Amino acid sequence: MSFELAIDWPTFLATYWQKKPVVIRQAFANFQDPISPDELAGLAMENEVDSRLVSQTDAGWQVAHGPFTDFDHLTESHWSLLVQAVNHWHPAAAELMQPFRALSDWRMDDLMISFSVPDGGVGPHLDQYDVFIIQGAGRRRWRVGNNDVIAQHSPHPDLLQVTPFEAIIDEILEPGDLVYIPPGFPHEGYSLENSLNYSVGFRAPSGKELLSGFADYVLAQELGSRRYEDPSLRLRDNAATILDEEAARLRDMMSGLLNSEDFTPWLGEFLSQSRHELDIAPPQPAYQEDEVRDALEEGAALHRIGGLKVLQLASYTFINGERFSSPDPLFLSLLADKAEIEAEQLLPLIENNSLLTQLTGLINAGYWHFGEEAEEDEE
Ligand code: SIN
Ligand code: CO
Repeated sequence: MSFELAIDWPTFLATYWQKKPVVIRQAFANFQDPISPDELAGLAMENEVDSRLVSQTDAGWQVAHGPFTDFDHLTESHWSLLVQAVNHWHPAAAELMQPFRALSDWRMDDLMISFSVPDGGVGPHLDQYDVFIIQGAGRRRWRVGNNDVIAQHSPHPDLLQVTPFEAIIDEILEPGDLVYIPPGFPHEGYSLENSLNYSVGFRAPSGKELLSGFADYVLAQELGSRRYEDPSLRLRDNAATILDEEAARLRDMMSGLLNSEDFTPWLGEFLSQSRHELDIAPPQPAYQEDEVRDALEEGAALHRIGGLKVLQLASYTFINGERFSSPDPLFLSLLADKAEIEAEQLLPLIENNSLLTQLTGLINAGYWHFGEEAEEDEE
């Protein structure tokens, strides 16, 4: 199943992206849910999958974390089951991410899916990320406020909410409608009936994440061991003084590391790491190179596992936090560009033995596989 998103990206970027929220009616015409509530509940029972159940009871807000063993004690209303990174585990649902790749793979985070019963929701809150919330089955009322400073509080240790806000958007979303919410705009969604919502989230790193990520790289690669030198040390009036020129040289030492040739490989490695667990299942037994060639000659398509980040920067390709180069850049560009690669596209390339070796390595690492689960899940 592929999803057609009716959006004019240039207009959207100029008017709304990181600027203001918007509802796009029938962004997905004839929207068909790629997953059922039962399948979602099944995922929430898996150890590797991050899920939570948020409910509003007479005793206040409650949060339970998965994996869940059963859903027997649930009431008819006032709860919502939220499952993170469903694109990593459910190929048909992962297809919903494809249209949003227009905005770049590196900014994309995950697909969170929620199932809510009447009056179910996580309450009024803010997110740090841009999110596109797509309405699947059912109807849900979404209120979104302005990005004025707003107080946050925790009605439960695992729940951060905001005080009531005035809405600039207050609409009932129907299947196929979408609401885009930039970071910092308070919002709340309440289901009118049993409903499914798909949140395509975009993540932006903070300065402290970047700096600590770079520091980890400096340590791991044993960079930056050269020490400060001061062959022209100047005498000072007060022994306690750090001279401005000394502070400037120390700062230059630090920015010198950031501005070095190490920055690009670090950045690619850093940004290509997934924040959520990947469904990596290396084939057992491992593929031999001639088996890979045979499979392609038989027309098998190659599929990338959901959520794997394959990014390109300068002359490098980064896959899941690792840097790759190849004798044929076209090969890695193909792997980076397409979530599914037809055999015909790969066959001419693997005539080059070193590319066949590289491809076999990536398949044996569990990053790409033959066979299509997405089609099976469509039933
Ligand atoms: C949801 O309840 O489906 C979305 C939660 C959110 O607003 O981030
Ligand atoms: Co939110």
